[in-house]
Amino acid sequence: MKACASRPVHRLPVRITHWVNLATMTGLFMSGWEIYNASPLFDFRFPASVTLGGWLGGAIGWHLALMWLLALNALCYLLWSLASGHLRHDLLPLSLSALWRDIRLTFTLRLRHRHGHYNAIQKLMYLGVLGLGLLLVCSGLAIWKPVQLYWLVAVFGGFDTARYVHFFAMSGIGLFVIIHVLMVIIVPSTLWAMLSGGKREG
Ligand code: HEM
Repeated sequence: MKACASRPVHRLPVRITHWVNLATMTGLFMSGWEIYNASPLFDFRFPASVTLGGWLGGAIGWHLALMWLLALNALCYLLWSLASGHLRHDLLPLSLSALWRDIRLTFTLRLRHRHGHYNAIQKLMYLGVLGLGLLLVCSGLAIWKPVQLYWLVAVFGGFDTARYVHFFAMSGIGLFVIIHVLMVIIVPSTLWAMLSGGKREG
C-alpha cells in the first residue's frame, strides 16, 4: 500500500502514450476531414483551415501513416496497462452503484476530485473512449481494405455502413475530447499531473 501511495498520479508510460495519442489523433482527425470532404456523407464539408494533406492523396498518405503510429501507441498502452495492473486497479472496477453514486454527487456539486483516483464517471468515459477507439480502428480497416477484409465489412453490414460507423465513432471521440478538456479546465491541476507525473492523494 505504501508503494502505491508513493507512486506518481500518472506513471511515465501513461503520460507518454497519452500525449503521443493526442498528437496522432489530431492529425488523424484533420486528415480524415480532408478525406471526408472528397465524398461527404452529409450535407456539409469541413473548412480547409482544419484539414490536413492539401488534397485527397496527401490526406490519405497522412491518415495511413498516422494510423500505424496510433496503433503502435495504443498497443503499447494496452499491453503496459494489462501488465502493470493499471487497467485492473485504476480504470476498473466499475459498478452501476458507483456510477449512480457519482452521478448524484455531480448533480449536487459534491463530487470531489482526488489526484490518483478516478471516479466512476471518469472510468466510464476513459473505458468508453478506448472502446470507441477500437471501433474506429476496426471500421477504418474495413473501409481501407474492403476486399481483403470482406468479413469485417460484413460485420459492419456493408461498406457504406462501415463509413457511417467510422464517422460516428470519430464524432463520439470528438465529443469526449470536448467534455474531457472542460473537466481539465474545471480542475486544472490534473493537467500538471498528466505532464509531470504529480503526487497521489491517499
Ligand atoms: C484524442 C484526445 C484525447 C484522448 C483520447 C484522451 C484520453 C484520455 C484517457 C484515456 C485518460 C486516462 C488515462 C489513463 O489513466 O490511462 C486521460 C487522462 C487525462 N487527459 Fe486526456 N485525452 C485526450 C486529450 C486530452 C487533452 C487535449 C488534454 C488537455 C488539455 C487532456 C488531459 C488529460 C488529463 C489532465 C488527464 C488526467 C485526468 C485526471 O487525472 O483526473 N487529454 N485522457
